[in-house]
Amino acid sequence: MDSNRRHLIAGISLAGAGILLNACRANQSRSGGATNEENKAEGPAPGEATSVEVTAAEDLMREHGILRRALLVYQESVARLRQDAASVPPDALEKAANLFRVFGEDYHEKKLEETFIFPTVKKAPGSAAGYIDVLLGQHTRGREITDYVLSITKAERIASNSVEPLARALESLVRMYEHHAAIEDTVIFPAWKSAIGQAELDELGEKFEAIEHEQFGDDGYEVALKRMEEIENSLGLSNLEMFTAPPPPPSK
Ligand SMILES: [Fe+2]
Ligand SMILES: [Fe+2]
Repeated sequence: MDSNRRHLIAGISLAGAGILLNACRANQSRSGGATNEENKAEGPAPGEATSVEVTAAEDLMREHGILRRALLVYQESVARLRQDAASVPPDALEKAANLFRVFGEDYHEKKLEETFIFPTVKKAPGSAAGYIDVLLGQHTRGREITDYVLSITKAERIASNSVEPLARALESLVRMYEHHAAIEDTVIFPAWKSAIGQAELDELGEKFEAIEHEQFGDDGYEVALKRMEEIENSLGLSNLEMFTAPPPPPSK
């Protein structure tokens, strides 16, 4: 690790960011640590095509992709918790909640949306401005739920009287955040792009990249992606094919 990067990581207030990076490096260094996807083909792992330029809006949307994958882990965990709570390792959920906290809440929400996107959209003409207060309220509620998930999952096992409350909290977070991110992708980010114009959009694309480097070092998105894959692997959720829907019943 170069000294500049070490300095930046040391400056991050949440220990989770360091955990995020260190766990990924450990994963990368293990010969058996490759994901299913990486085993399938030679060449760059998913998300490693860093030389391709990413626009500011695309950056925000691919961050949603990481957060949606954390939500899928939550959603799968809800079903397992209700079926057999012992089959859900608390540390896998804790890692997912830590990723959501560091990458989603502290970086994507606070450093980007609440600092740059929401204030601009709130002042812009059009109906998108009407969503901002609700979206901010949902950020706050999400953080409360993440605090709760982290408090429950720090134990070696999930207490039996916490299983259903935890399942409900995760379920409600998934429902809220899926709607939240969908509105941001389809209404808020397009409204923001129209409000600022291309020149400022390009400028902010570079600024977002600088903020990402400041928060995480050189490769925040790639590190978060690898971390997410590691969590999915640990829960047996890394094979996309297992989610292919069964055929529908024959039509009459
Ligand atoms: Fe948001
Ligand atoms: Fe967002």
